Amino acid sequence: MAKSTDLESLERKLYDSRIWRSIFRYGYPIDRRNRIMTVAKNVFLHLHPNFVPRGAVKLTYTWCLGGLSFMMFLILTVTGVLLMFYYVPSVERAYQDIKDMETVIIFGMLMRNMHRWAAHGMVITVFLHMCRVFYTGSYKPPREFNWVVGVILFFLTVLLSFTGYLLPWDQLAFWAVTVGTTIGGAAPIVGDQVNLLLLGDAQIGGNTLIRWYTLHVIALPLLLAVFLAVHFWRVRQDGGLSQPL
Ligand code: HEM
Repeated sequence: MAKSTDLESLERKLYDSRIWRSIFRYGYPIDRRNRIMTVAKNVFLHLHPNFVPRGAVKLTYTWCLGGLSFMMFLILTVTGVLLMFYYVPSVERAYQDIKDMETVIIFGMLMRNMHRWAAHGMVITVFLHMCRVFYTGSYKPPREFNWVVGVILFFLTVLLSFTGYLLPWDQLAFWAVTVGTTIGGAAPIVGDQVNLLLLGDAQIGGNTLIRWYTLHVIALPLLLAVFLAVHFWRVRQDGGLSQPL
C-alpha cells in the first residue's frame, strides 16, 4: 500500500515538473477536466475522441480490422526501413542482396519475412475492414467521404504490394511485372504512353526497378500516411465510430 502511494507521489511530481509541463501542458489526470485536456492537447492522443460510446468499441462490431491494418502498416514501415540498409535497387545487386538477407545478414530473414507477411496481412485486413464497413452500413452519410478516402487507401495498399513485388528481381517478380505492365500497355489510345510510364524504358530493366523502388519506399508510403491521417481525423469529425444497431 505504502509503495503505491510513493509511486503516486512520484508520478505527481513528474506531472507537475516544469520539464513535463513545458511539453504536455496539462498536469496529473486526476479529475475529469484534466483527463479530457490531457487527451485533447496531445498531438497523438487528440486523434482519439474524448468520449467513445460503449457500443462502438465492441470487438465483434469492428473486429479491430482498421486498427490491425494500421498495425501492419507500422510493422511494414519499421521492417522496410531496416531492409533499406542492405538492399540496393540495381539490376546487378537486387537479387543477390535479397539472397544475402536470407543467408548472411543477422536477423535478415526475420526482417524480410516480417515485411512480406505483414504486406500480405495488410491486404487481407484492409479488405476485411472494407467488408465490415460495408456490412454494418458505416459508409452511409455522414461517413460517405471517409469511405472514399478508404477506397484511396485500398488502392494505395494494393499498389504498395505490387511495386514491392518487383524488388527481389527474381523470375517471379520479373514476369509478374511483365504481365502487369503489358495489361497497362493494352489500354486504348494511351497504351504506349502508359507502358513507357510504368517501365521507364522500352522493356523491363534497371529503369523500371528504380522507378518502382522510389514509388515503393517514398511516394506511396507518404501518400498513404497522409490519407491515413485524414481517415482517422474524419472518423472523429463524423461523430466517432458508427453504432451497432
Ligand atoms: C490502410 C488502410 C486502412 C486503415 C489503416 C484504416 C483504419 C481505420 C480505423 C482504425 C478505423 C476505426 C474503426 C475500425 O477499426 O474499424 C476506421 C474506420 C473506418 N474506415 Fe478505415 N482504414 C483503412 C481502409 C479503409 C477502407 C479501404 C475503407 C472503405 C473503402 C475504409 C472505410 C472506413 C470507414 C467508413 C470508417 C468508419 C467506420 C464506422 O464509423 O463504423 N477504411 N478505419
